Amino acid sequence: MTATNPTPEPRVEFFRHALGDEEKARVLAALDETILTTGKAVAEAEQALAAYLGVAEVVCLDSCTAALHLALLANDIGPGDEVIVPAATFVATANAVVMAGATPVFTDVDPRTGCITLDTVKPRITPRTRAIIPVHLYGLLCDMESLAALARARNLLLIEDSAHCLEARRGGVRPASHSRCACLSFYATKAITCGEGGALATNDRLLARRVRRLSLHGIDSSAAERYRKKYRHWDMAELGWKYNLDNVRGSLLLPQIPRLDAHCERRRRICERYELAFADIAGLTLFDVPQRDWSARHLFAIQVDPERRDALLDALDQRGVGVVVNYRAVHLLSYYVQRFGYQRGDLPHAESIGDRTISLPLFPTMTDEQTDRVIAAVLEVVGGGRVFAEAATPARGILRTMPGLVRRGGAPAPTGEPEPARQAVRAGRR
Ligand SMILES: Cc1ncc(COP(=O)(O)O)c(C=O)c1O
Repeated sequence: MTATNPTPEPRVEFFRHALGDEEKARVLAALDETILTTGKAVAEAEQALAAYLGVAEVVCLDSCTAALHLALLANDIGPGDEVIVPAATFVATANAVVMAGATPVFTDVDPRTGCITLDTVKPRITPRTRAIIPVHLYGLLCDMESLAALARARNLLLIEDSAHCLEARRGGVRPASHSRCACLSFYATKAITCGEGGALATNDRLLARRVRRLSLHGIDSSAAERYRKKYRHWDMAELGWKYNLDNVRGSLLLPQIPRLDAHCERRRRICERYELAFADIAGLTLFDVPQRDWSARHLFAIQVDPERRDALLDALDQRGVGVVVNYRAVHLLSYYVQRFGYQRGDLPHAESIGDRTISLPLFPTMTDEQTDRVIAAVLEVVGGGRVFAEAATPARGILRTMPGLVRRGGAPAPTGEPEPARQAVRAGRR
């Protein structure tokens, strides 16, 4: 008699968007309009975002990369200038500096949070430094008050890479409140998305105006203005790029804005469930989120033994858990090594994060049951053993039944079958 296989549990994807009927209806409405490019739908999203963030103006663009690029250009940062960027980030942060013709100077980060601090940034300032780009990694707002004080004292600009952070608050600090501008992303996995898109948020209306112009080749009137009104000649005052956002994508944004805080709250709860389950587990380190409000909880990353990280990625994937790495240290990627001569050992904390980190599934429609399946898979592969006697924790319901749990400082897991992750390494899957 052949045994029947139990139905495999569906995969927990790394991310699922929460776009629904409202967004679909708005796209259809946008398609019925005469102007498909930048127009009413984009303007509505810009106003709603500005109101949400409490800033004077938001300019929607093609991507956060475009926003970073134009933030630099609109502040006349270019060849001969240096811009300090963290090495623990997505390549876009540094690439935008190169795109502007300036030199990215990578800085290390606080190993507990992944964010830059005064201590990491100060030694990187030279007479050529024009700006610092703090990245609110995984959603945690950097200490913008102290960075703003440093920037004032050294006559530097702060341009926030806020791709991970719309919703966080740190006392009176929010994205764009203590900087020249904040660059936002509406990329497919972000808190609000239109597939590809971004924006620049600022309290400086003149900066917003220049960014708008630079997003349209440097032309001083938008397509909607050119076609809606009686024809008039337009001028191109400076060389710009083609970075404006169209109404079709822009129409997706507005309905998502009122849901931002509720979705962030759900992500916070999922993260807290993860943290409860992973507290004090041998071989697993969590990032610090000093206060709940300080992080928008865009990503949930754990850190594991660098020797085992890639095998653990495979092992989690095989157990139906979507995982990615955010981020391998940018200064060690081939382009930056070859062009600027960075070497391993230059920025040890960012390198350690890059070698050790794994991001787990996190999205607002993720259920507790899905979260628990991810937790079980992580504990199984990271814990590497069987249920240890002390398995009772506040997340008892989940953990009692978990295989492979070893408390930090506890006795080693009983010997027996080798755990799956080790088997994966032996099988040469790394
Ligand atoms: C930290 C960070 N900065 C910048 C970007 C670039 O965003 P976009 O894809 O909208 O250009 C991303 C995108 O994932 C990011 O994670």
